[in-house]
Amino acid sequence: MSEYENILTETRERVGIITLNRPKALNALNEATMREVVRAARAFDADPGVGAVVLTGSEKAFAAGADIKEMADKSSMDMYLADWFAEWEQFTRLRIPVVAAVSGHALGGGCELAMMCDIVVASETARFGQPEINLGIFPGMGGSQRLTRAVGKSKAMDMILTGRTMTAEEAERAGLVSRVLPAEGFLDEAVAIAATIASKSKPVAMMAKEAVNAAFEMGLGQGVLFERRLFHSAFATKDQKEGMAAFVAKRDPEFTGE
Ligand code: CAA
Repeated sequence: MSEYENILTETRERVGIITLNRPKALNALNEATMREVVRAARAFDADPGVGAVVLTGSEKAFAAGADIKEMADKSSMDMYLADWFAEWEQFTRLRIPVVAAVSGHALGGGCELAMMCDIVVASETARFGQPEINLGIFPGMGGSQRLTRAVGKSKAMDMILTGRTMTAEEAERAGLVSRVLPAEGFLDEAVAIAATIASKSKPVAMMAKEAVNAAFEMGLGQGVLFERRLFHSAFATKDQKEGMAAFVAKRDPEFTGE
């Protein structure tokens, strides 16, 4: 029996796959799902046999948002004292690269969860939106910050204040999505992208992720210095020696994650 009730996990070679699995609620993100996603993702992060993670949902819905039914009757103090959504912070602190593979609805917390991942790839059927305004709330899982950084102020305001959805194509044009893939064979393609990442040196990929993420937290001078110091430390890995030796010897590198 699986240790999870709301997600499925599997490993395909060096790729860990987490599939949101609450089909009756279009993968609405209740508290239990949040805990399970964080736990599974942290387990993949710590597993040297896994080099990248794919987070996905169903064909119809990546996730239709935070669970409205779970939140509907809560008071402000309930939300504040539980620090509702705070546990997602742990997901954003994963060091392993995470690819969001989005098919169907990615709304509210679903869109926000995709934006917590490092790369968002979308099936041509994907629809992104922050429709919280229609519920008398606004994004609470980072949407006002991450969507604004991803697509700029005007489009973020448009999405958040009107509640409209974006097609996969518009999301790619706006920079929210890195690639739009055909619906057929979508997940396999997304896993192949993650497999490419997982074929590199895991610690070096982690450093690269850390360096890119620093761009969202630091000023340019500090960020460039942070990158340079991480770059220097990459030279402490066997994988750097292997990668450069393989280039010089005109052969493929064999990274071991050391
Ligand atoms: N929470 C709880 N249940 C949800 C849900 C959600 N976010 N989204 C869908 N469901 C449930 C529906 O209530 C329905 O359950 P029942 O069969 O028990 O009635 C089931 O999933 C199927 O949904 P629909 O019948 O509505 O399916 P549809 O195909 O007609 O519509 C949809 C799909 C347009 C995505 C529609 O379900 C919808 O608008 N969902 C809500 C989207 C939303 O507002 N998301 C934001 C949530 S708040 C949030 O995320 C806060 C935050 O910032 C983190």
